[in-house]
Amino acid sequence: METQNEGTTYTNNMSFSLTFNIVPTMMWVVLEIHKNQALRCKIRTELKDNGLLRDLQPDDIKRLLNLPRLQGVYAECLRLYDQVLIPRETTDEIEVRGWKFPKSSTIIISTHEAQTEKGAWNTGPNDAHPIDKFWAERFLVFPGDATSGPIVRSSVIQTGRENEAEDDAQNCNISGPVFSERTTAGFWIPFGGGARICPGRHFAKRAIITAAAMMTTMADIEILVGEEQMRTDERGYGLGVQRPAEKIPYRIRSWHGNRALR
Ligand code: HEM
Repeated sequence: METQNEGTTYTNNMSFSLTFNIVPTMMWVVLEIHKNQALRCKIRTELKDNGLLRDLQPDDIKRLLNLPRLQGVYAECLRLYDQVLIPRETTDEIEVRGWKFPKSSTIIISTHEAQTEKGAWNTGPNDAHPIDKFWAERFLVFPGDATSGPIVRSSVIQTGRENEAEDDAQNCNISGPVFSERTTAGFWIPFGGGARICPGRHFAKRAIITAAAMMTTMADIEILVGEEQMRTDERGYGLGVQRPAEKIPYRIRSWHGNRALR
């Protein structure tokens, strides 16, 4: 049973997480989509091909959650912008990569370190997509392309799930890319892990992906600054999803292309 203190901590954490992490993640997803017109066009095409380029209804959420490219942008934004320091206490003596920790040691796990680990993440052909930059296709597996997928093959931690994305593509005869986070165990940890993993993660994904789809089907956003002015504010490091260091001016107008594309 929960004590009153634990209950209070949980409630505080919930209100904090709702606004602190969901809102900036939504913002980055929407900015990344609108920043690159080719990407925005691909996301709109994906929505159109799935009959979702219209006023979205509550029943559409399930289908939105399965769109490879939209999920890929969501996962990549969390990889890049979610920087949390997660504390743990060891219940036994343990060894991690040659480091020995006695029982009852405090360990801090950095999501940022794991999510930008050099050599583990796929950086594309000729390293065209460095690990500290956004790449909308990092989490996509393209059928027949063994070099695609988020984690380079030699770094994948064997969990038994690593081939499922390719199996999906083959079994369902999918010709386009498939979203895959199945090889990312140990590297993509924006919601922590284990018994204390974030209980709000499913809600967060629904909220962020729905908002991103709405902002893509209803609006054209023109960002009025370059990449350099879209850097993050380092002062928030360790606390959650990062904010931009400066204001990002943009021009927004409603988009009616959805009618034309129907
Ligand atoms: C993008 C959105 C979010 C991110 C990146 C995020 C991230 C995290 C992380 C890294 C932790 C620590 C997990 C661990 O210790 O292993 C956590 C814990 C927690 N989160 Fe979230 N979170 C998000 C949204 C939410 C939402 C929407 C809620 C509530 C509706 C929520 C409620 C909580 C609670 C209650 C805990 C504490 C769990 C525990 O200690 O047992 N989070 N979150």
